[in-house]
Amino acid sequence: MARAHLALVSFFAASIIGAASKSFTIANNCEHTVWPGILSSAGSAGVDTTGFALAPGESRALSVPSGWSGRLWGRTLCSTDAATGRFACVTGDCGSGRQDCGGGGAAPPATLAEFTMDGSGGMDFYDVSLVDGYNLPMLVAPQGAAAAAGGSCVPTGCMADLNGACPADLRVAASTTSSGGGGVACKSACEAFGSAQYCCNGDYGNPSTCKPSAYSQFFKNACPRAYSYAYDDATSTFTCAGDTAYAITFCPSTTSVKAAGGSPQAQGALPLMNATMVYLGGDQVGSATAAARLPSGLLHHVVVLAVVSLALAGALY
Ligand SMILES: *[C@@H]1O[C@H](CO)[C@@H](O)[C@H](O)[C@H]1NC(C)=O
Repeated sequence: MARAHLALVSFFAASIIGAASKSFTIANNCEHTVWPGILSSAGSAGVDTTGFALAPGESRALSVPSGWSGRLWGRTLCSTDAATGRFACVTGDCGSGRQDCGGGGAAPPATLAEFTMDGSGGMDFYDVSLVDGYNLPMLVAPQGAAAAAGGSCVPTGCMADLNGACPADLRVAASTTSSGGGGVACKSACEAFGSAQYCCNGDYGNPSTCKPSAYSQFFKNACPRAYSYAYDDATSTFTCAGDTAYAITFCPSTTSVKAAGGSPQAQGALPLMNATMVYLGGDQVGSATAAARLPSGLLHHVVVLAVVSLALAGALY
């Protein structure tokens, strides 16, 4: 009831603001607090906040200046140190020591929503990127006439919870006290191994030499519309005509995709979710054919998950 009321309030707030300028509605559908962080690109006008807390079920409307470019992400497991008074987060921390990021960016790994408003041809360009790793499921859903028309103006994001399914060599686990020792984020192969091949720099600094890896493919399979490596542009950048509002949701549910007017399979785009992935307790298990292409570390991980899910399936019957 409270949630429905909140959704109505933010809907009206968004329509009023949307009439005059561009707006974001940021919603937290997670079962835990998320602290959104916002970083404006150099030379771009700022948004009126650079960071705040969103309790579970809460949402907040922001007005975005025309021509804005920047990124937005969610911080998790944040707290204020009782001795120093310093605010810090286990994932997505921006280093400010406060709730507002004040020009600080997200420490990887973090799921990022990236925007360039009113760019080439007056269009907005946006994407959700896992190039700096993953910490939260996130959905960016355009709203308004352009979104209703579809085309390249469709929802993007990463609907899957990859913290449980993250391959062992990419996994970030928090200390046992803050999260029971479970995975809290999943590194990119670039961050985990630092090689030019995974980071797309040096000899690999162009689209013809930097190719998807088994690691980037893990992200791409789970989140087909998100950027999985630096040159994943063709299937990961979306555009809307300049009078569009955007709903950004942390831990989106399939119901929230429908409510946002987003068809999961838009014309010409990859699906928002991968229907062939088996979802069990937030973990994803790839198909046997995908397992055959993975290196041994990843293969081991898939096999362990498959065994766990078989055991779970057995327990259910
Ligand atoms: C879905 O995942 C499977 C197995 O991980 C993969 O083979 C397939 O290509 C994925 N589909 C999409 C659209 O990414």
